[in-house]
Amino acid sequence: MIYGTAWKEERTEALVQSALSSGFKAIDTANQRKHYHEAGVGAALKHAFDQGLDRDDLFIQTKFTSINGQDHRLPYEADAKPASQVQQSFERSLTHLGLSFIDAYVLHGPCTGQGLIDTDWEIWHAMEALLDAGHIGAIGISNVNIEQLNALYDGARIKPQYVQNRCYAQLGWDYSVLSFCLKNNIHYQGFSLLTANPMVLAQLGPLSQKHQKTPEQVIFRFSQQVGMIPLTGTSSLAHMALDLDLDFSLSDDEIQQIAQMGLGH
Ligand SMILES: NC(=O)c1ccc[n+]([C@@H]2O[C@H](COP(=O)([O-])OP(=O)(O)OC[C@H]3O[C@@H](n4cnc5c(N)ncnc54)[C@H](OP(=O)(O)O)[C@@H]3O)[C@@H](O)[C@H]2O)c1
Repeated sequence: MIYGTAWKEERTEALVQSALSSGFKAIDTANQRKHYHEAGVGAALKHAFDQGLDRDDLFIQTKFTSINGQDHRLPYEADAKPASQVQQSFERSLTHLGLSFIDAYVLHGPCTGQGLIDTDWEIWHAMEALLDAGHIGAIGISNVNIEQLNALYDGARIKPQYVQNRCYAQLGWDYSVLSFCLKNNIHYQGFSLLTANPMVLAQLGPLSQKHQKTPEQVIFRFSQQVGMIPLTGTSSLAHMALDLDLDFSLSDDEIQQIAQMGLGH
């Protein structure tokens, strides 16, 4: 389970501190001021390290966001080449986070909805160079469709180790991308598992009663059992505890049942 830090603005520091105190070990952010406050994550990390938390016990992930995903608060020069923008954005991420090493560095999304263009490759090669230099542990891509992932996997010198995608039950829980990831040892991170799937949550009453868990816990556990790493961005202390309390198993039949739930809609 990864704690996601989008849309928290000035509450980011306090919420990440709460998440770490609750037991989250993985944090997702981005150097994209429009949706994230990366420096707030860094302030929370500093506090946690001061309290004795060990850096090696945490998985910290941040993202490079191309100019089309940014507002005016750019983390790089607008007219720099894409490779140089990656370098600048990454250096600022290290400063924001107060770290010298990032566990996973993720391309927030390809530049266009179809295929990969030259700029995507320039960005990817710059991310490969950061990995070569030992500054990051792995690279990944987000908001990617199966054709783009196939193309990246085929053409990249260093293959993506993470994919982070929105997961709609109506689209078979992103089945084609998830199965590609499972076949190719790529860790699939699923977001919007709750917000994209209210019609599934509404059907989970009987299963959640049976397991004595909430419908939200059932969706998160389902996602883990089908091979995803779920993200939650909860702002509630009670939900943080519930989102980490997933020590139960759904049967194969129950997994099938949930897998089918969105498809009828
Ligand atoms: N790569 C991308 O483009 C991208 C896009 C979107 C998100 N993300 C990442 O994914 C993270 C998660 O985002 P998300 O889209 O999944 O939405 P989210 O921000 O996690 O929102 C989840 C919603 O579910 C609720 N919730 C969480 N746990 C719950 C529980 N146990 N019971 C009841 N309600 C619960 C939350 O409400 P409460 O606050 O009241 O608990 C919140 O309203 C983000 O912070 C970000 O890191 C990435």
